Amino acid sequence: MSSTQANDTAIDPRDRLIVALDLPSVAEAEAMVARLGDHVSFYKIGMELTYAGGLPLAERLIGSGKKVFIDLKLHDIPNTVERAARQIARLGASFLTVHAYPQSMKAALAGVAGSKLKLLAVTVMTSYDDADLAAAGYSLGVKELVSRRALQARDAGIHGLILSPEETESIRALVGPGMALVTPGIRPAGTAIGDQKRIMTPARAIAGGADHLVVGRPVTEAADPVAVADAIVADIAAAQAQR
Ligand code: C5P
Repeated sequence: MSSTQANDTAIDPRDRLIVALDLPSVAEAEAMVARLGDHVSFYKIGMELTYAGGLPLAERLIGSGKKVFIDLKLHDIPNTVERAARQIARLGASFLTVHAYPQSMKAALAGVAGSKLKLLAVTVMTSYDDADLAAAGYSLGVKELVSRRALQARDAGIHGLILSPEETESIRALVGPGMALVTPGIRPAGTAIGDQKRIMTPARAIAGGADHLVVGRPVTEAADPVAVADAIVADIAAAQAQR
């Protein structure tokens, strides 16, 4: 058995699939949620949908029994981050992202104190390579900076990390069993890769120690979204039973 989260077996395989509602309007997002029905229990609402009126939708989803991940990647002066996190905590969502800067993580933790909202830290955006970090003024490379920020997140008391599925095994070994590892870049065998570069199937990502998988277009752009979601959950269940 590989090292996974301490409460690993307590997570229903269906709750491990988070469908990214990367759609341009609330009406289209609502239509997708209606179509997926009981087959999907967890949704991610990012910047695009938030700026199109997605937060009231988040509240409606939560009211109807769904879990919601608000992906707004907070980073600002501590006072602003703390107040923003406190507002989002009122929605009743499960996860919120914050950039893994010590000041922002500390402030976001203060903002969500007393709520059930859990924070996920974004270490280094996966669109950055070593040259992009150097251009932005950093002396560390991606690998070193991801490791440093993962440890800073853990030591600050952050609940989990967003990372590429290729990083789950090494980061799990680094941070230990307590943090939730959440991975985008998931592609079921046979689906279009799109603009993702470092991808993995659901089964391999779970076997590698991921706790939740974020999947967008393979579900939302499928001819039969329900069938794809069910197949992913079945893959997750099989891989979970083996680890
Ligand atoms: O459609 P697809 O499955 O590629 O969607 C993946 C989701 O995960 C998108 O909402 C994207 O913004 C998000 N994400 C990502 N890579 C990261 C962080 C977030 O693809 N490093």
